Amino acid sequence: MDENIEISFGGRLHKFPIINGTEGEKAIDISSLRKKTGLITIDTGFKNTGSTKSSITFLNGEKGILRHRGYSIDDLTNKSTFLEVAYLLIYGELPNLSKLKTFKDNITLHTLVHEDVKGILDGFPSKAHPMGVLSSLVSSLTAFYPKSLDPNRSVEEINGTIIRIIAKLPTLAAWAFKNRMRQPLVYPNNNLDYCSNFLNMMFSLPTHDYKINKIVSNALEKLLILHIDHEQNCSASTVRIVGSSHASLYASISAGIAALWGPLHGGANQAVIEMLEEIKKDNCNVKKYIDKAKDKSDQFRLMGFGHRVYKNFDPRARIIKDAAEEVLNSLGINDPVLDIAKKIEKIALTDQYFIERGLYPNVDFYSGIIYRAIGIPTDMFTVMFALGRLPGWVAQWKEMRENNEPIGRPRQLYTGNISRKYVPINERKN
Ligand code: ACO
Repeated sequence: MDENIEISFGGRLHKFPIINGTEGEKAIDISSLRKKTGLITIDTGFKNTGSTKSSITFLNGEKGILRHRGYSIDDLTNKSTFLEVAYLLIYGELPNLSKLKTFKDNITLHTLVHEDVKGILDGFPSKAHPMGVLSSLVSSLTAFYPKSLDPNRSVEEINGTIIRIIAKLPTLAAWAFKNRMRQPLVYPNNNLDYCSNFLNMMFSLPTHDYKINKIVSNALEKLLILHIDHEQNCSASTVRIVGSSHASLYASISAGIAALWGPLHGGANQAVIEMLEEIKKDNCNVKKYIDKAKDKSDQFRLMGFGHRVYKNFDPRARIIKDAAEEVLNSLGINDPVLDIAKKIEKIALTDQYFIERGLYPNVDFYSGIIYRAIGIPTDMFTVMFALGRLPGWVAQWKEMRENNEPIGRPRQLYTGNISRKYVPINERKN
């Protein structure tokens, strides 16, 4: 039976249909609200607003469920490679052996970036944050592939653009790091797998070759999968909204990288390690920082805690916590920051302030500890997140284009001055 919701306004009863998702979620379809009633809705931060219908990722914040195309994040992290999951997100199904081989071969073929990219990179000061560099370099790809500017081209051409961005992002990310270090750039090595190639471009030097450590590349593979998509978050929504104006995939991804950069989103992983370091320097006084986080007159927030959707636990945080222990043990690293993190988690999970507000460690609370252990510098953490999130952004952009979604253009409730008489400059009092 069709369900409706009735809104009584202006002396009339207006009906709006309830629509159902495949996991039993329900939504009020208000697409005819303004036409029928003249009203709009206000929902700052979109806390209750569904911007689209999507079949990529399902998450249930109350139950701590995360699935991509129906597969649990645990299975995907433990049983698949990053490129397999990327294929799943972008094309809808897990690839068989031959499809995966073709996908991988295509990506491997396009890892090199145009030599002129080096000129653009040279223009950045070495102090430039690698997220800003990465966002700019991705946007610059539109100049090297001008046909990508038209997102209405054939499926094959769009697919070429998708393959290129997945192939080239590790190269651009590693080069953003090399620019930061003022070290010579390392070219991609197509004999290596996706993660090992990235690590090689990051850490090889003319003086010595980087030796691939399987523990490290496996840990990286896991981290990238865990970050691969998270439905309509700030950066995915940005990618979709920029793409909805028919801007190119590269421009949309560049905007997604900028959205991810902020400390309330992907930038949290960098902020977590900086916070843990600060606590370490402050005699490991965990209680002081827990109190600061609870103090409403203090701007301080416990970074890596809380999530817009997960109010019970973040399923990715559990996997990452175990992975962090495993990586540190395997590499024989004793990082005091891990002990501080565990102490904070323990105290916060029993503290009424955090319990009442549903604040739990999120994906970024432990990821930085693994990045540190595998030698990634702090200001590259969010770049690592972007590398992992890329297939999700691509899938979100592709779905939005395939659904022929209209340009994203929210309304507002105007609260400024009403119409008033213009005052010439010599008569103004302020
Ligand atoms: N430390 C202390 N208090 C917090 C924290 C925190 N980390 N997060 C939320 N709160 C409090 C708020 O002060 C507010 O308290 P109040 O009700 O007394 O006013 C309440 O919890 C709700 O917080 P909101 O900011 O309204 O929650 P929202 O859903 O808008 O924000 C967010 C979610 C941005 C993730 C927030 O929890 C936060 O800032 N966390 C720290 C940054 C972080 O780790 N971000 C990464 C998110 S995961 C990701 O993007 C990959």
